[in-house]
Amino acid sequence: MTYRRLAQIKTAQDLRDYLARLGVDLPFDETVQSGPDSPLAQPYVLSEPQATEGVQTPGRPTAVVRIGNRFAILPMEGWDGTHDGRPTELTVRRWQRFGSSGAKLIWGGEAVAVRMDGRANPRQLLLKEANLASLAALREALEAAHAARFGRVDDLLVGLQLTHSGRFARPYAQKGFVPPILYHHPILDRRYGLPPDLPLWTDEAIASLVEDFVQAAGLAQRAGFAFVDIKCCHGYLGHEFLSAVDRPGRYGGSLANRTRFLREIVAGIRAQAPGLGVGVRLSAFDFVPFRPNADGVGEPEPLGHPYRYAFGGDGTGVGIDLAEPCAFLDLLASLGVRLVCISAGSPYYNPHIQRPALFPPSDGYLPPEDPLAGVARLIRVTAQLKQHRPDLAIVGSGYSYLQEWLPNVAQHVVRTGQADFVGLGRMALSYPDMVADVLAGQPLQRQRICRTFSDCTTAPRQGLVSGCYPLDDFYKARPEAKQLKTIKAAM
Ligand SMILES: Cc1cc2nc3c(=O)[nH]c(=O)nc-3n(C[C@H](O)[C@H](O)[C@H](O)COP(=O)(O)O)c2cc1C
Ligand code: SF4
Repeated sequence: MTYRRLAQIKTAQDLRDYLARLGVDLPFDETVQSGPDSPLAQPYVLSEPQATEGVQTPGRPTAVVRIGNRFAILPMEGWDGTHDGRPTELTVRRWQRFGSSGAKLIWGGEAVAVRMDGRANPRQLLLKEANLASLAALREALEAAHAARFGRVDDLLVGLQLTHSGRFARPYAQKGFVPPILYHHPILDRRYGLPPDLPLWTDEAIASLVEDFVQAAGLAQRAGFAFVDIKCCHGYLGHEFLSAVDRPGRYGGSLANRTRFLREIVAGIRAQAPGLGVGVRLSAFDFVPFRPNADGVGEPEPLGHPYRYAFGGDGTGVGIDLAEPCAFLDLLASLGVRLVCISAGSPYYNPHIQRPALFPPSDGYLPPEDPLAGVARLIRVTAQLKQHRPDLAIVGSGYSYLQEWLPNVAQHVVRTGQADFVGLGRMALSYPDMVADVLAGQPLQRQRICRTFSDCTTAPRQGLVSGCYPLDDFYKARPEAKQLKTIKAAM
């Protein structure tokens, strides 16, 4: 099946007709406003209330923060830190570009591991005392770039995403590391060659990891970050907990047990880093792992039984049930967590529901649906969750595939209250200034618009630093661009 390229859809009517033909419900505003009255330029007032139940927040006043507009930059790793987890010049450049984009909410920058064995790759940033100054400098570089262009940072909110990569941890360059897992997953264990007798995380080891998260949050606070995001998405450990339905003991089975890890981290942060904001990035729904069929098109792994390992899934493997995600948001609200970023699935086993793309990454599959369907699904789910908890500050994801139409959909979503912020991922790699251009009413720079070529995912999958090789002149000129071309030609 071939899908129409958005770059060729020039009029609103053409887009409406195409969406109707696809049967995809994706409303958008025909005209994008600019200037101070535009919906996307409106400030958002975030007040983090005292926890109402469950968690003590001793001496913690209600914090009120004004976030200057409705664009957020989503976290994106570059696979370009030093081997001991400090940023390099490439990392600093990426963060400076995030800063000068004009977005007033920096959701986490990129995933930073709370300890060595939790790194997703040997070049991931690592939060430890010895790296504190370099992470503070990274934040300062972002803020300096923002200040240089926009003259102020008092309405800019910068957080840091904290993670342990769980079953997707690949912390060492040499092969042979077997990642810890919370439970045996019938498909993922097979796919990643995990032996059936691989021992699981013990409850004691989890308790010690909770302490590592809390320590890391304290370091992030000392590095000047306003909040930390406890990453609960994309198949990494915080997300794996939510599907640990078969796990016995304190951290598995019931939803209360599956959220214990997060609750303990939040309680630790409240006690040991009072005043630090806490956010959560959530894969609000998940599907069964997909695989390429004979034509390379993605298809769900066959199931002979209900699929129980999709948090937010309905048991079919490809359907959604938001009962547990809604309960999860209720829990966050009760913990005083107001910042929530909605994502879905995992880039490893079902990327099309998380980062809709026309061109798959090297370990992916051709799109099983028009990527617009994936964009619309994420927007719809985010809107349903926002409706369930209007009091939370909700950030949406997965907009980059919209390309020229991103501002139109973004404005519609924010104007109609379906999300509070529109998060930009890949578009912030190819064309971070899209934010500033939209807010200033400048025409879009079409040659910089992300076309979802997926090179920023393919490169790291092949051991290269991540960046926008097709569209960013800086990466085009790097030696890795040639290597990537050769690798892709051989695939
Ligand atoms: C190269 C790359 C790195 C990413 N790294 C992270 C990460 O560190 N943490 C995270 O939560 N999401 C990460 N993501 C997912 C993005 O934040 C975002 O959810 C996804 O790209 C979909 O949004 P988009 O359509 O605007 O790209 C990454 C995505 C890409 C392409
Ligand atoms: S490599 Fe560039 S164009 Fe391709 S998906 Fe990434 S940001 Fe977009």
